[in-house]
Amino acid sequence: MTQTGPSRQSAPLQWLRELRESHGVAWDESMNTWYVTRYDDVYALLNDPRLGAQVETYCPPGLSERQRRTYWRVTNFVDLWPVFSDPPRHSGMRRLLLPLFTPAVIRQVVAAVAGSVAASSTTVPADRMFAAVVRPALTAGLCRLLDEPEEALAELADCAARILAIGAIESYDPESGLRAEQAMDELVGLVAERCATPRSAFTSTLSRAVSEERLNLLDAAAMYAQIVSGALEPAATAVARLLEALTGPQGAAIDLAEDLDEAVDEALRLATPFHLATRRALTDLTLHGHAVRAESRVVLVLVTANSDPRRFPDPFTFRVDRTGARHVAFGRGRHACLGAVLTRHVMREMILELNAQGLLRDLPPLEPVWNVEFGSRFVYDVVAGASSTTPRPR
Ligand code: HEM
Repeated sequence: MTQTGPSRQSAPLQWLRELRESHGVAWDESMNTWYVTRYDDVYALLNDPRLGAQVETYCPPGLSERQRRTYWRVTNFVDLWPVFSDPPRHSGMRRLLLPLFTPAVIRQVVAAVAGSVAASSTTVPADRMFAAVVRPALTAGLCRLLDEPEEALAELADCAARILAIGAIESYDPESGLRAEQAMDELVGLVAERCATPRSAFTSTLSRAVSEERLNLLDAAAMYAQIVSGALEPAATAVARLLEALTGPQGAAIDLAEDLDEAVDEALRLATPFHLATRRALTDLTLHGHAVRAESRVVLVLVTANSDPRRFPDPFTFRVDRTGARHVAFGRGRHACLGAVLTRHVMREMILELNAQGLLRDLPPLEPVWNVEFGSRFVYDVVAGASSTTPRPR
């Protein structure tokens, strides 16, 4: 692949979109990776058993014996997270995670989110609404889901964040490796405490599986790590995109009584907080005439699939009347997001409750402040844009 124009580092989204239009499927020598960028290919391959989720890795050169040990301990731990696991381990983990997503639990989480919004001040300024109302309500929902007080959730999330700060192999820093290793040991300790004295249906399930030796503590910690690091920020990002649409020029055309489900999914499509689903070819395969060797890394680019004009005409316009292709913001197939139904309910309830509290009235257009990196889009904050008020969503 030869590429001029935007680079992977400086303009990752543009780089991926140009790849979609110029190649569809392309080999990137510098990353040792195949990128698949068009909707139809991504959609099919997400459900293709010839791709596994556990990606081959290697140790960066030049490390001491001690540093190598740290590197492998942390990397092997991240490989245990459900999203990077393959069957049969993966199927067992998914079964154990199911008690978190029953309709009864979803109702409790949604009630916690609504309760938090209802308890907020109704005079909070537009500029503060996201930080002062939306984020705390999402946090309240996750606390309810995991049956954790807020400080305990923050402690778990901090461990997961320090582990993920290990970053890419290409830029590995032994110091961040050490911090990640320490965080991993802390996290395992915290999860061990929960398994020893389970308080929720989820910790009881984990505790039983650990005592019956169907699961070890590292696996249990990996499941926690995935949820505390992969739930809150993408949900906040999708809500931010929805608020942007509701208060922007298209807001007047969105009827909250009629179009909210479609608006939620359109916000998820346009936000696509996780850009990539990384896979490994389990066998030789052919993609668009390219021979992809077994063991190659194959990255399915969710974000370019979700803006592929071949399936989403006028892809960057927020439209609640789309029919046809379903977005892949939650992935699909074996690793499809377990929190998808919950997230949709939470987003819906968030908007209804903000509206019921009068917090959506007379808002200026809201603009998310994004942090876009290679692989993700998350929201820092949502601020008031142009000072003029716009017609309110009905
Ligand atoms: C807007 C919000 C969210 C988005 C966009 C999102 C996106 C995703 C995606 C794309 C995957 C699959 C990755 C892959 O195939 O490689 C995934 C997996 C997963 N998500 Fe979410 N997620 C969201 C919210 C949540 C929430 C709220 C939870 C839990 C409370 C959650 C739990 C999980 C779990 C456990 C998996 C792993 C599934 C598996 O590997 O079997 N997600 N998510």
